[in-house]
Amino acid sequence: MAKDLQMEQGGSTAWGSIRGSFHYLMVILIPALVLAVTYLARDAASPPLKEDDSSVAAKESGVGRAGQKGECDLFSGRWVYDNASYPLYKEKECKFMSDQLACEKFGRKDLSYQHWRWQPHDCDLPRFNATALLERLRNKRMVFVGDSLNRGQWISMVCLMESVIPSDSLESMTYHRNASFNVFKAKEYNASIESYWAPLLVESNCDDPINHNASDPIVRVQAIEKHAQHWSDADILVFDNYLWWRRPQMKVLWGSFKSPDAIYKEVKMPRAYEMGMTTWSQWLEIHVNQSNTELFFVTMSPTHERAEDWGGFTGQNCYQETELITKEDYWGSGSNLAMMRVVETVINDLRARGVTIQVLNITQLSEYRKEAHPAIHRKQYRPLKEEQLANPMSYADCMHWCLPGVPDVWNELLYAHIFKNWKEVHV
Ligand SMILES: *[C@@H]1O[C@H](CO)[C@@H](O)[C@H](O)[C@H]1NC(C)=O
Ligand SMILES: *[C@@H]1O[C@H](CO)[C@@H](O)[C@H](O)[C@H]1NC(C)=O
Ligand SMILES: *[C@@H]1O[C@H](CO)[C@@H](O)[C@H](O)[C@H]1NC(C)=O
Ligand SMILES: *[C@@H]1O[C@H](CO)[C@@H](O)[C@H](O)[C@H]1NC(C)=O
Ligand SMILES: *[C@@H]1O[C@H](CO)[C@@H](O)[C@H](O)[C@H]1NC(C)=O
Ligand SMILES: *[C@@H]1O[C@H](CO)[C@@H](O)[C@H](O)[C@H]1NC(C)=O
Ligand SMILES: *[C@@H]1O[C@H](CO)[C@@H](O)[C@H](O)[C@H]1NC(C)=O
Repeated sequence: MAKDLQMEQGGSTAWGSIRGSFHYLMVILIPALVLAVTYLARDAASPPLKEDDSSVAAKESGVGRAGQKGECDLFSGRWVYDNASYPLYKEKECKFMSDQLACEKFGRKDLSYQHWRWQPHDCDLPRFNATALLERLRNKRMVFVGDSLNRGQWISMVCLMESVIPSDSLESMTYHRNASFNVFKAKEYNASIESYWAPLLVESNCDDPINHNASDPIVRVQAIEKHAQHWSDADILVFDNYLWWRRPQMKVLWGSFKSPDAIYKEVKMPRAYEMGMTTWSQWLEIHVNQSNTELFFVTMSPTHERAEDWGGFTGQNCYQETELITKEDYWGSGSNLAMMRVVETVINDLRARGVTIQVLNITQLSEYRKEAHPAIHRKQYRPLKEEQLANPMSYADCMHWCLPGVPDVWNELLYAHIFKNWKEVHV
């Protein structure tokens, strides 16, 4: 699974570990699959997602979804095909687009993945208003911290912002790639929207934004300061933390990388993940002043590497998929429920100690979107071998997301949380 994590812009990559990682991937996938099947069986009687766009349908599926006490659950809903309002920006008009995510540019012909809107069951999302968000971010700093999925969300965000800025004031923006930072500045507003590379949040040997070392990660689970010093003064922080930990065990380091008496130990998952998440949460508890900083955590971004999860053929993946999964409450093996439990526990413990992290629980809604990954429609940072070319499925990227696409919806959800202005649908 490490394969695509390494495919960063301009980065060097190592393809070697695909086969090797497959074996131990199964070790975590099989229990996850069992859980998923149990989950699905429970909901077998639920109606499938509706794909029409009618407010009547929206209201109908809201009925019988009782049990939400008071507040609307924005993450419970359905995808609605809406080619009138979506996409919210055009791929080629976004200067910040990454070749890793520009599926249209890299030859994808079916563009339906750009036209889906997320409709929560019990409320309507506010319309994304980039001007309002820029006003909100005036003299402020919003930093996305995490891996390439998180950076994809940052790219989506700056594309959403850029699309409303009149072209004659475009030069008021600066963009520079500087080590671990990508920075977008709207000078007129003195607003800064940044992406910081910390794929495991805590320190690791994968922290170089170009040379990732993804095939053999070593994590200093107790150290985060090296990263955190760069965003301790941010006004809004948006974290993610999942894919780089998705392995049966992790090599953990106590001491520093250069120290001769450092101790290395293989720690099983999800225990190692829990250690890393705890270090992160303790840093937040000590350093964040909640009157100045708003905190968000984006839950795991699911992958679609096993077509049998959704009733496809064994051995296939998201390659050439063009349709959504329509099973209600679908979970596939690309999401790890044990790691989700760790996130819940860590965030609940923090809340008990007075630190609130708003959870953008995008896992389930993204699970439906098996057709929205780049697959083979992205830049390959390494030339493909003949046997790969002969079997395109072998190099399909079923992990990242095409833009415009799913991460735009994550940002609409982030937007709704920043403004807290979604509308209840009364049924
Ligand atoms: C939207 O999709 C419908 C049905 O697929 C099609 O008839 C219509 O022309 C499309 N509209 C736009 C603006 O693309
Ligand atoms: C977007 O927000 C700006 C600033 O708050 C406001 O003036 C404008 O009317 C909004 N646009 C829409 C379409 O709501
Ligand atoms: C500009 O924004 C930064 C945060 O990114 C802030 O520290 C600084 O005070 C702002 N400048 C002014 C003049 O308000
Ligand atoms: C990178 O950016 C930081 C913060 O803006 C700055 O302090 C540092 O000097 C920059 N480094 C390089 C190599 O440009
Ligand atoms: C990658 O890992 C190796 C072995 O731990 C280490 O020697 C090397 O410095 C690492 N590279 C980076 C960029 O951290
Ligand atoms: C948190 O920030 C507020 C506003 O800047 C300030 O009044 C308060 O003293 C700070 N709290 C702590 C514990 O530093
Ligand atoms: C996210 O939502 C799923 C249901 O879709 C739930 O099982 C999980 O506990 C939620 N995660 C968090 C961290 O709240």
